[in-house]
Amino acid sequence: MGLKPGLCVETQQPPVFGKGLKVKTLEDSFGRKFPYLRLSVTDVCNFRCTYCLPNGYQKTGKEQFLTLPEIERLVRAFAKLGTWKIRLTGGEPTLRPDFVDIARLVSNTPGIRKLAFTTNGYKLPEKVQSYYDAGLRAINVSIDSLNPANFHDITGHNRFQEAMDGVHAALDTGFEAVKINAVLLKGQNDNELDSYLEWIKNIPVSIRFIELMQTGDNQAYFKKYHLSSDVIKQKLITQGWQDTERREGAGPAVEYTHPDYKGTIGLIAPYAKDFCKSCNRLRVTARGDLRLCLFGEAGFPLRPLLQDDSQQEELQDSIMKAMQFKRSSHFLQQGDTGITPHLASVGG
Ligand code: 5AD
Ligand code: SF4
Repeated sequence: MGLKPGLCVETQQPPVFGKGLKVKTLEDSFGRKFPYLRLSVTDVCNFRCTYCLPNGYQKTGKEQFLTLPEIERLVRAFAKLGTWKIRLTGGEPTLRPDFVDIARLVSNTPGIRKLAFTTNGYKLPEKVQSYYDAGLRAINVSIDSLNPANFHDITGHNRFQEAMDGVHAALDTGFEAVKINAVLLKGQNDNELDSYLEWIKNIPVSIRFIELMQTGDNQAYFKKYHLSSDVIKQKLITQGWQDTERREGAGPAVEYTHPDYKGTIGLIAPYAKDFCKSCNRLRVTARGDLRLCLFGEAGFPLRPLLQDDSQQEELQDSIMKAMQFKRSSHFLQQGDTGITPHLASVGG
């Protein structure tokens, strides 16, 4: 009996691709692999963080963000290409009325092993259980100051307590990773290290101090408020904190631990030499453009390939082909912010 087309040569059975067995993987021309996708589900945000959307979100035309079926096709294609970690971002992702449905759909996609999201904490205490139930297991809450008045000045909202309660609720609910994003701002929150340290003495949260990044819209602001995270690094080292090995699938933060503290500190220094060397993430905007870098020159529109199930192969090929255009690093040091007006447009 001759071989039937499409059957395995050895077993004469249809080929079996077990969970996690990848046919293709995403790799760029510098040998970097990309298991991590940051998927923005909306550009809309209800906050007005001074470094991001100081005048609030400005609606431009009809908001046509990816629909649930489009997200389903997109995530299925990425999972086939080896993506196993997805972070839902925005804008403020939880403002989408179908946020929980999106989370459930993504967490149920074969191959996706870790689902995270970034939020400003809006309605978090009351919603966090539904997020967990939908399969979300890692959460980043933006808390740029532990002083309520300062929090208000930075975000334009009097919602400090809500965000803090949300963090504690996430811990109680059983989230595996609870992180705080704090953008370092000279003269605004750089005197708060001790308060953050005090807070995490007995709770297992990780504070990410993120160096302010220059974007198309915040040039003057950047000049005024940018502060190198080296300042924090030196203080941590003096107080006995030690840097640790980077874990698989981990972000760009250098993680510090201390035996007397349950929490940890991560420093994200995008201006540091070699920051891009360990890049492991791709981004898709809320309108379906693939972005190879936060500060890239172009987006690759995937939306036309998300309209029905018949284009899955072509979609995967397009994503694979785009990888050759990923540059070795961003050019932020030279003030080149690419096509990014603010991070709410690419999902942070
Ligand atoms: N620089 C650094 N981090 C930023 N974020 C937004 N804009 C910037 C910027 N210009 C980060 C904040 C926020 C997350 C959503 O994006 O950490 O918590
Ligand atoms: Fe909204 Fe996040 Fe931008 Fe603040 S940083 S305005 S919470 S998108």
